[in-house]
Amino acid sequence: MGIRTWGYRPHETPVCTNEAREGFGMFLEQNRGAIGRPHMPAYWSLGFQLSRWGYGNIDVLKETVNRMHRYDIPYDVQHLDIDYMERRLDFTYDKENFAGLPEYLQELKKAGMHNIIILDPFITKDEEPGTYRPYDLGEEMGVWVNNSDGVTPAVGQAWPPGDSVFPDYTNPRTVEWWTQLCLEFKNVLDYDGIWIDMNEPSNFLQGQFPGCADNDINNPPYIPSISDRSLAQKTLCPDSKTYLGEHYNTHSLFGWSQTAPTFHAAQQATGKRAFVLSRSTFVGSGKHGGHWLGDNFSQWKDMHYSIIGMLEFNLFGIPYIGADICGFNYNTTYELCLRWMQLGSFYPFSRNHNAEGNMEQDPAFFGEEFAKISRATLRIRYSLLPYLYTLFFESHVHGNTVVRSLMHEFTSDQQSRGIDTAFLWGPAFMVAPVLEEGARSVDVYFPEATWFDYYTGYKVPSAWRGTYATVAAPLNKIPLFIRGGYILPEQAPATTTTKSRLNPFGLIIALNEQGEASGSLFWDDGDSIDTIENENYFLAKYTYGAGNLKTEILKNGYRGADSLRYNKITILGLKLKPHAVTLNGRAIRRDAFSYELNGVRAALRDYEKSRGHGKSQ
Ligand code: GLC
Repeated sequence: MGIRTWGYRPHETPVCTNEAREGFGMFLEQNRGAIGRPHMPAYWSLGFQLSRWGYGNIDVLKETVNRMHRYDIPYDVQHLDIDYMERRLDFTYDKENFAGLPEYLQELKKAGMHNIIILDPFITKDEEPGTYRPYDLGEEMGVWVNNSDGVTPAVGQAWPPGDSVFPDYTNPRTVEWWTQLCLEFKNVLDYDGIWIDMNEPSNFLQGQFPGCADNDINNPPYIPSISDRSLAQKTLCPDSKTYLGEHYNTHSLFGWSQTAPTFHAAQQATGKRAFVLSRSTFVGSGKHGGHWLGDNFSQWKDMHYSIIGMLEFNLFGIPYIGADICGFNYNTTYELCLRWMQLGSFYPFSRNHNAEGNMEQDPAFFGEEFAKISRATLRIRYSLLPYLYTLFFESHVHGNTVVRSLMHEFTSDQQSRGIDTAFLWGPAFMVAPVLEEGARSVDVYFPEATWFDYYTGYKVPSAWRGTYATVAAPLNKIPLFIRGGYILPEQAPATTTTKSRLNPFGLIIALNEQGEASGSLFWDDGDSIDTIENENYFLAKYTYGAGNLKTEILKNGYRGADSLRYNKITILGLKLKPHAVTLNGRAIRRDAFSYELNGVRAALRDYEKSRGHGKSQ
C-alpha cells in the first residue's frame, strides 16, 4: 500500500499543492487504519468539566457545584480525585468526609450531569488480610507485576498507605480482576466514566532505598538524560516481569495496556459509551481513551504549551485532549485563569483541574464578572458542539484530526508553519487566544482565505490575508474566526448538553469568494454504544451555491433526528441584499429574515423545518 507524501526533494522549496494536503490527511488516515481510529466520545463528554484534588469533603464539593449553578455556567461533568477515596485506596470511598456521596452523585445525574471517578494502578498490600478485597482477590488471581524472579510481586509506594503492588494489565487474568472490581464499584458509586492516572506506572519508592538489583537491564550503559539516577526513577525496576515481557521493554505500554480494559469495563458497567481519560498513552491509545497533558503549572507559558500538546496529540490519533485549565501546580491568578478559561473552552477535552493546597480556581470562584465571561465563552463552545461532534465522527470514521494547526490546512503557506499560538477546529473555525499577561489584543495570522469575525459576522479585510493583523481582545473576549467556504451546524446552548440537545439547531453558512460553502452534521443519541457501527445515526450534507442551500440526507438511521428543528440560518458574506427567501418553493415571511449591511450577514430566524432546501434570492 503506497502513501502519497509531501512530494518534494530536500533542496527544493516545499510547494504543497492540494495533492500534498490530501497526502497529509491520507497519511493520517492510513496511520489510524493501522493503529486504531479514535473512539467516538459521548456527547456529554464534550461539555465543560470541573475537577480538583483537594475538595477534602463533600460540603466543599457541593458548595463548588452550587456556585457553578448559581452563575449558570455551562457544566456537564464533575470529577472526583483521590480525596473521595478512603485513605486513597482504589474502589473505596471516604464515608466520613464524603458521607452521602453515592446519593449526591445521583442528584447530579438527575440534574443532567455526569460523574467521573479516578482510579490509580497501585493496590496496597498492607491492609489487614480479609479487609481489602481488591488486594485479596488480586493476590488470589495472581494479577501483579512481578520481580525478576517472575513469581514475587514487585513492590512500590504511591498514594495509598504502606507498600503497593501493581496490576499487570497485559495479563488477561488482570483484565478479569479489574473488570470485576469496576463492575462491583459501579454499585457503590454510580460513575459515568473512569479517569486512570499515575499509569506510567508511577512509583514514589524508586530512585530511593532499596533501589533495583545491579544488573545490565536495570543499569544499561546509557540512560536518557532526563533521568538523573536510573531508568527506574519514579517507576518500577526495568527487570520487573510483566506477562508481556520485561518492564524494560513494556514500560511505555503500561498505561496503554490499562486503557482498553478500562474502556470495556466502563462500557459494561454503564451500558453506555465509555469515557476513559488516561495520563500515560501510547500509539493506539486514542481508540479507547482520551488524554490530558498532565501536571502543568499555573503559568502563562504552560497555557501556551497546551496548544502545542493539543496539536501533537491530534497528530498522534488521540484527539480527545486538553490541559488542566487555569493550571494544576501553583496558585493561579485572576487574569491567567480567565484567559485560560477562554482558551480551554476550545480544548476538545475541556476541564478545569487543580492540585491540593492551591487556591480555588473554578470559574464561579472569582465572582460575577469572571463567571459572566466564562459563561459567555462556554456558551459559544456549547453552541458549536454539533460541529465539534461531527468532527469527532469524521475522526472516528476516517482518522483525521479534530483540532489542527493552520499549517495542516494551509500546507503551501510557509508562514503558517511556525504558528503554535492559534489553532483550528476542523478546517473552519479559528481560535486565537490571548497568551500574554496584560495583553488586550492578539496578533493573528490569516492564511489566504475568506475569514469572518465570529462575533460580528464581518468579513476580515482582504488586506489581512497572508499577514498578521492586530485584533482587539479585551478581557471579556477570545478572538474567533470562521473560514469562508464552510457550513457549521450549531445548537442553542444550555447549562448542560442534556438540555442543549433539546434545543433548536442553526447553520452558520460562511461563503467563500465564489459564494459557496459546504459542511455536514452528524447526530445520534449521544451516548449509546457503537451507534455508527450499528448505523443508528443521522448524517446530513449541506451545500450552498448560487443562492441555494441544499441538504442531502446521507444517513437517516436515528429516529430522534425526526424532531430536529432548525430555527436560525446565518449566511455570512452575501454580496447582494436578498429580496425574498423560499423554502422548498414556499416563500418565507419577510419578517422572518433580516439582513445587515456591510454585505455580511443575513439571518433567517424562527422558521421551523427539520430538513429541506432553502433558497435565498
Ligand atoms: C496526579 C495527577 C493529578 C491528580 C493527582 C492526585 O498528580 O496527574 O491530575 O490530581 O495525581 O490524584
